[in-house]
Amino acid sequence: MDLNVSNQLLDEFAQLVKKNQAARKVSEGEKLKVGVDLGTSSIVLAVLDHEDNPIYGNFQYADVVRDGIVVNYIESVQILKKLKAQAEEVLGVELLSASGAIPPGTGENSQKIVANVIGDAGFIPQAIVDEPTAAAKFLHLDDGSVIDVGGGTTGISNFQDGQQLSVFDEPTGGFHMSLVLAGAKGITVDEAELLKREAPNEKEIFGVIRPVAEKMASISKQYVVAKEEDPVLLVGGATNFTDFIPTFTKVMKRPVVGPHFPQFVTPLGIAMYDQGELDE
Ligand SMILES: Nc1ncnc2c1ncn2[C@@H]1O[C@H](COP(=O)(O)OP(=O)(O)OP(=O)(O)O)[C@@H](O)[C@H]1O
Ligand SMILES: [Mg+2]
Repeated sequence: MDLNVSNQLLDEFAQLVKKNQAARKVSEGEKLKVGVDLGTSSIVLAVLDHEDNPIYGNFQYADVVRDGIVVNYIESVQILKKLKAQAEEVLGVELLSASGAIPPGTGENSQKIVANVIGDAGFIPQAIVDEPTAAAKFLHLDDGSVIDVGGGTTGISNFQDGQQLSVFDEPTGGFHMSLVLAGAKGITVDEAELLKREAPNEKEIFGVIRPVAEKMASISKQYVVAKEEDPVLLVGGATNFTDFIPTFTKVMKRPVVGPHFPQFVTPLGIAMYDQGELDE
């Protein structure tokens, strides 16, 4: 694992998302790999070339998935269709296939639903993998643990020799931070959600939600079984606070590291599983 390499790819990908641009011109018939992350908080589309270089990315905040389960099928398909169309317009080629992911332990049925959303949005569905496995693949993590703090849940997965040893899901995520913030400020959860994402308020906001982060860290501490010399990686959109990693390090009493743009780790990992079938 080399976090610098991952960070460089994440920086490139985030720039593409921000600018709604392609990394380069794509030739007709070129093999592209697409990852779709249907999250509690947003739907992310990641496009890589066959060497896993970021080519394009976009996302939309959406409330169509709860705790990893698609609760609004039609809207999920609509949003994904829109993201696909935007991507194709920028890239000038059609995106043929896409890979997806499900939270661990949600079963075959939820795998089918994700594949159907991808299929109904106009892709040929490829592998449907488990989210922490996708994150670990992107990070090239063979030994260690990944803690993914998303919108609705915190997932903790342990890896050894490239295999997933164990995985745990705790129903606390960014949404709960917004709830606490809303309560403290006397505002709605939607207002709190927006306020939380504004960089200038970061220090004050983290002061309010610190207990939530500390609780997540103490839960994570119980489940992380990585050896002392192996890394513990913190990913997921909710970790987007400067003090998040120091808080985890302190509570877990061991070094915790995190990449840039932690919300894009899983979608990029998912894209790496797409075989990107060619139209022959
Ligand atoms: N800049 C930011 N500062 C603070 N929190 C942020 C920021 N950007 C995103 N978040 C929070 O991250 C959470 C979403 O993270 P992420 O995109 O990893 O979740 P998801 O994959 O949609 O959800 P899940 O994995 O639980 O299904 C939301 O609660 C959101 O408020
Ligand atoms: Mg997620």
